[in-house]
Formats: sequence, structure tokens, C-alpha cells
Amino acid sequence: MKKVLVVGGGGRCHAIVDALSRSSEVGKIYCAPGNAGIAAQAECVPLKDTQVEELKEFALENGIDLTVVGPEVALAAGIADVFSAAGLRIFGPSKAAATIESSKDFAKRLMAKYDIPTAAFETFEDYDKALEYVRKGSLPVVLKYDGLAAGKGVVIPETFEEAEATLKDMLLDDKFGKGKVVVEEFLTGPEFSFMCFVDGTEVYPMAVSQDHKRAYEGDKGPNTGGMGAYSPLPFVTDEDMEYAMEKVMKPAAAGMIAEGCPFKGVLYGGLMKTPSGIKVIEFNCRFGDPETEVILPLLESDIYDIFSAVADGTPMPEIRWKADASMGFVMASKGYPGSYGKGFVIDGLEEALSDPAVRIYHMGTALKDGDVVTSGGRVLMVVGSGSSLRQAHDTALKAVEKIRCENLFYRRDIGWRVL
Ligand code: AMP
Ligand code: GLY
Repeated sequence: MKKVLVVGGGGRCHAIVDALSRSSEVGKIYCAPGNAGIAAQAECVPLKDTQVEELKEFALENGIDLTVVGPEVALAAGIADVFSAAGLRIFGPSKAAATIESSKDFAKRLMAKYDIPTAAFETFEDYDKALEYVRKGSLPVVLKYDGLAAGKGVVIPETFEEAEATLKDMLLDDKFGKGKVVVEEFLTGPEFSFMCFVDGTEVYPMAVSQDHKRAYEGDKGPNTGGMGAYSPLPFVTDEDMEYAMEKVMKPAAAGMIAEGCPFKGVLYGGLMKTPSGIKVIEFNCRFGDPETEVILPLLESDIYDIFSAVADGTPMPEIRWKADASMGFVMASKGYPGSYGKGFVIDGLEEALSDPAVRIYHMGTALKDGDVVTSGGRVLMVVGSGSSLRQAHDTALKAVEKIRCENLFYRRDIGWRVL
């Protein structure tokens, strides 16, 4: 039986651990650092996702057969290169390939060069030139910091004053770090996430999903890491899927080969269905969070075999999915995405899990004196599956209502666009 190490600790990694625990080939799962929910299915290792050297030593000492990486920071830190150089098998792109996420400018130039549809753009290092370009254009305008910014590097000013202040933050005061700014055309339309397994050359699609970025019901309030997600998406047609595969994902994989950095792992297309067709908003170099939590419960095939085929460059087995719908509600700490308290006891988890169509993925929890307590901004993702989105919604919501914690809130309207 195989030993697998999962790197990361949020809901996405819990969903990966959960999928691996259904594998007939996997005997032991470690997760670094993991969390209180993951601890029920894997042995947690007290190492952070960026402690690349220590993780490598751990993998060598414990005879790990395969490592799977969740977060982009570990990939951008070169974990795949370090593991590969040590002869360790790993699922996740090289540092060079992870640039498709860690540099917006690299991603935009790749799209321009390989004719992948995206918003018109220009990249600036110089504040005055950027400001002049923005002043000549129209509003709103999209300003993107070039590096990783934990989802906070995109600002969409409605006024020139706001645009000026943002450019000052990004280019003069280095508020996000030293880096360039991509100034982009503002697009409109529903957004969706398209994740594919990519083994360098071939692209294997997963179902599309949609997350809910705003904190409060009716898509109001501040942006978050995502307050819920669902799949499939009735507004994405078969033709849309075909277009997204042929004009976006396949050319991106081919482009990465041509650029000398073949992509191996999960390529995530953040897409928008605009009035003039599907366009790329961003690429990510890893599983999406919280999209993964609604997609992986639908996977019927053995995920270890899929990871292995990508890691080894061997033929991909047939990938089978359940035809079900899946919907997940995030329960977050009151105050999130601003400041929030921690250490509040969570009750009712067992009760919520009594329905076999429910899965609960821990995003930010810890164990304290035998209790599961809150330890992050987003705390739990409660996922329901069923034969329709309505059924998945009701199943998940019923489970959410069984969970008791004085410091959690959630949006009841996940999936409102399609229900
Ligand atoms: P990103 O970090 O690139 O995913 O951007 C964060 C969010 O900003 C996206 O999910 C979109 O909602 C929005 N956004 C980014 N680029 C554009 C664009 N060109 N037009 C409209 N909205 C955008
Ligand atoms: N759900 C957005 C992301 O994973 O980047």
C-alpha cells in the first residue's frame, strides 16, 4: 500500500485527503500541516507548506510514494523542483510552470502569444506611465498587482482618484511588494472555474463550478476567498465547454511546452462568459478553493492513479465522474474577511454528517481539550450532493443548520443564480 503526503491545511486539502482515502492503493496519508478535520483521515505533520526542505526530508525519511501539493505558495517556492531533484514523485507544477499564477504579466503574455481570449491589457513598472494610460482609458478599469497577493492583488476602481491611489499603493509604496501592474479592460458576465488535470501534453477536464466571492447574501459586502460553490453550471453549455477546452486550456498547455515549462498538475482557468464570448480572467496553477470541495466528491475514479499518471508521465486511466450535482456552504468566523476571534467550540458535526450525501471539509479548525474549535477566517465547508442542484442545496443547508457555534456565519443563498 502506498504512502501519500498532502501539503497544505485548508478545505481543499481536506477534500484531496478525503478523495485519497477512497483509493484502493493508498494505505497511509500524511498531511502537512493539516487541521482538526483532516486529522480524522490522515496523520498531521507539524510542517508549514513553505518549509520545502523539511518537507523533502520528511518524505525521504518516511518513504513517501507520492506528494500532492495544495497551495500555490509552496509551488511558487519550487517544491516540485526540490522533490523531483531528490527523486521524489510529486503532483504539482514546477516553479517555472507555476509562474502562470504567480505572475499576471507572464500569464497575460502567454495568452497574447498563443491567441487565448482574454481582456486587453498593458503592463507597467512606471507609475507615471501607468497613470497616463489609465487617464486615457475608460472606467471602471482593472488593476492587477503582478505577483502573488493571496487573492487581494486585484482592484477595480470606479473613479480616477481611486485608480491613482491604487497605482500609488502598488507602484510607489510597494504595498503588495516590489512588482509591476497589469492594467486591464473591464469585462462583464458570469464567472466560472474550469479545472483540468494536465500531464504536460494532454488536458483532462473536470466539471465546471462557480464560487461566491462576496461575504454576504445577494453578493454584497467585501470580497472573500469564497463563501460557497456548486457544480454543474446550467449556464455553461456543451459548446462553451468545447470552446474552453479548444481555445483556452489546450492552447495554454501547448503554450507552456513551447515556452519550455510544461505544466503538470491542475490547471485552473478562471473564465468569464462575456457578451463577446468566453475569456480568461486568470489562470491558477493548482486546485481551486472552495471549488475542489464540491468537485472531488463527484470523482468515481481512483485519484491516486490520476495523480500518478501526471507525476510519472504514464498513460492516464479513464476518469469517471458521478452525474450528480454538488453544492457547498462555507461557514466563516464572524468578522471575516476582516478581523475575527478564534477558539470557539463547534458542536453538531456528527449529527450533520449523519446524512451520507453530506461531506464536511474543515478549512480552519483546531483541536482544543478534545473539542473542535474555530481557528481561521473560513472554518468549514459543508457540501451536499444530489440528483439536482436544488437537492444538493437543501441537503447541504440542512446539515449546516445542525452545526452549532456562536461565532460562525454563512450565506444561505449559495447557488441563487441557478435555483
Ligand atoms: P483575479 O484575482 O485575477 O481572479 O481577480 C479577482 C476578481 O476580479 C475576479 O474574480 C473578477 O471578479 C475580477 N476581475 C478580474 N479581472 C477582471 C476583468 N478584466 N474584468 C472584470 N472583472 C475582473
Ligand atoms: N476560488 C478561487 C481560487 O481558488 O483561486
